[in-house]
Order: sequence, then structure tokens, then C-alpha cells
Amino acid sequence: MFPKIITIERHILEQQRMHPEATGELTSLLYDLALAGKIIASQTTRAGISDILGATDSQNTYGETQQKLDVFADTIIRRMNDHTERLCAMASEEHENIIPIPPRYGTGKYVLLYDPLDGSSNIDVNVSVGTIFAIHRKRTDGEHGVVGDMLQPGRDLVAAGYMIYGSSTMMIYSTGQGVHGFTLDPSVGEFTLTHPDLRIPEPGKFYSCNQGYEKYWSTGVQKFTKWLQGLDESDPDAKAFGHRYVGSMVADFHRNLLQGGVFYYPADMRKPDQPAGKIRLLFEAQAMAFLAESAGGYGSDGVGNLLDLQPHELHQRVPVFIGNRHMVERAEALIREHDQAWIDRYMAYRSKTMETA
Ligand code: AHG
Ligand code: MN
Ligand code: MN
Repeated sequence: MFPKIITIERHILEQQRMHPEATGELTSLLYDLALAGKIIASQTTRAGISDILGATDSQNTYGETQQKLDVFADTIIRRMNDHTERLCAMASEEHENIIPIPPRYGTGKYVLLYDPLDGSSNIDVNVSVGTIFAIHRKRTDGEHGVVGDMLQPGRDLVAAGYMIYGSSTMMIYSTGQGVHGFTLDPSVGEFTLTHPDLRIPEPGKFYSCNQGYEKYWSTGVQKFTKWLQGLDESDPDAKAFGHRYVGSMVADFHRNLLQGGVFYYPADMRKPDQPAGKIRLLFEAQAMAFLAESAGGYGSDGVGNLLDLQPHELHQRVPVFIGNRHMVERAEALIREHDQAWIDRYMAYRSKTMETA
């Protein structure tokens, strides 16, 4: 029998029907993001033959060299969404300040935060990269969005997801009711539902971290890493998990979502004044924690639930431990036991307010 094909458009519409109060704006916004993903995918897969590999001569707000595809992906997402009247502002990892909606266009009730190209150092070596997005409802008065509309806890997300540009292109998203995965059929240009209602399998199989930096981690995180390797002295029978690390958070998260595991990026103890590590709270961590929790997993900053954090600045960093709940809770317990000095420094950073940040 011919299989039932559910396109992303139909799926998003069906989800919308579960909310009689919905106006269709979120549906259209998600569909616009899927379209942006298709355009970015078409360039990432042609990168070698269309003069789009390599670095630009510019840097982003973190002082990181921008790749041509970073800039391309950022422009596509911004231009696809600035005139649709669904957003009141955007924010991108690649822009220091929020991106206003041009005055000639109308505004809408949502804000979009995105990492246009995650794992961009992997482009030139043909390793999977992705796009991460997060959508909040505008919460201030006034027609145009302000930075305060971006600084919302992940718990309040309306939707979040990512596109992964790998051996196939996929879009994964959640509006809080399950996590759903779609695969792009390039011959017809449609995302179709291939992974409905994803749940992180138990027990997890893998741990994913840049273990080359282990000597710079806190004692608790080092002990967690030993536990993952089955080397915890108090538990000689513990089994070892496999180690997999791509260096694109999207790709590492995606594998662990499908096969079970934990992704972590802890703080670097060489930098006591930067106790939050590398991952960006609003452009990377919130979306992934939201997806993990919607799939039965858990995302933590090592101290508590990532989704409960009140952000204080747009480009705020955060330590992350995301994946199967029992693995993430083991990290939290070991950090609690061994890392009080780091916790004190990190909590002082985490509890900064917008004014003092
Ligand atoms: P981006 O390419 O958007 O700057 O993000 C890269 C991030 C994340 O995707 C990845 O997990 C991490 O940086 C890799 O960092 P290391 O090279 O330090 O492992
Ligand atoms: Mn990134
Ligand atoms: Mn990026």
C-alpha cells in the first residue's frame, strides 16, 4: 500500500487545530522557517562548488570569525521573516543587538531567536551543521519588540527546534506537544514526517563532550566523565557509555535524541571570571533543553533546570548538560558534591539582573 505522507505544512496545521484560539501566525512562522531551512540546505550541500566555503573577513559578536555560510544563513532567516507581520523583533547569534522589523513593515506578536549556523567550524570539513530557532510571545507593550521580549525563561517558549544539514536534511520541532522530526525529500522539495513523537530512548548510549578539555573542568565534571566511562571507584560494575563528539551541538544533540545519551559543555576552570562555559543560553541552550524535556529528557546548567533560568543578557552563556534524565541528574549530583566554589561563582553570574549585567 502507498504509505501515508504527512508534509510539514499539514502537520503544523493539524497541531494548530488542537488550539482553537490559534490565529495561524505561529503555523505560518514555522512554515517560513522550514522554507529558510530548505534554502540553507541547498547552499550547504553545494558549498564546495559555489564559492561559499571558507571564512569572511568579519567577526561576530563573540569575536569568532564568521564563515560565509554563517552570514548567508543569517541573511536568509532575517529576510524571510522581517516582512511577514508575524514578528515584532528578531535576535541572532551573529548580531550584537536585536534585529528590529524595518519600519515599512507591520509587526506581529512573536519574537524569533536563532543560531543561523551551528557548528560552522565544521563546514569546511564536510561535517553536519544546523540551524537552531526559538520562538517566544512578545510580552512588552508597544508595537516593536525590545530586548526584554527576548530575555524570557525557556519554560515560556511557544516553539523551538532545529534544522540539521547532514546526510539528509531534517527539521525537528516542538510546540510543547511532543517532538516531531521531518526529513527533506530533495526530489520534491518537501519535508515529510519521518519521526513522529520522538522520545529519548532509555538507557542512553552515548556521552558527547570535548573531552580534550577535561583537565580544565571542575572536579565534579571530571568525576561525572569518569562515571560515564564506567571508572567511578564507588561503582566498579558500572558500564561504560560510548563517546561521540561532532562539535556541532545540533548534530550531537540529534544523535542523542534518537539514540539516547548526554551532551555537555561545562565551564573552563582556567577562566574563573567566565564561569558559564561557551554555549549561548538564548540561541542554543534554551531550544535544546525545551526539545529534550518535550522528549522525556532533561536539560540542566549543572545546578538546576535550564528552562527555569531568567536570562539577563542577549548573549549570555550557560554551562549545559542535556539528554537522558538520569545521566544529567548524575552530573548535577556530582557537581553539588564537589564544586561548591564554582557554584558560588556561577550563581553570582546567573543571578545578575538586566541592569547590572
Ligand atoms: P557555533 O558554530 O554556532 O559558534 O557553535 C559551536 C558550538 C557548538 O555547536 C559546539 O557544540 C561547540 O561550539 C563546539 O565547541 P568546541 O570546539 O570547543 O568543542
Ligand atoms: Mn552554535
Ligand atoms: Mn552559529
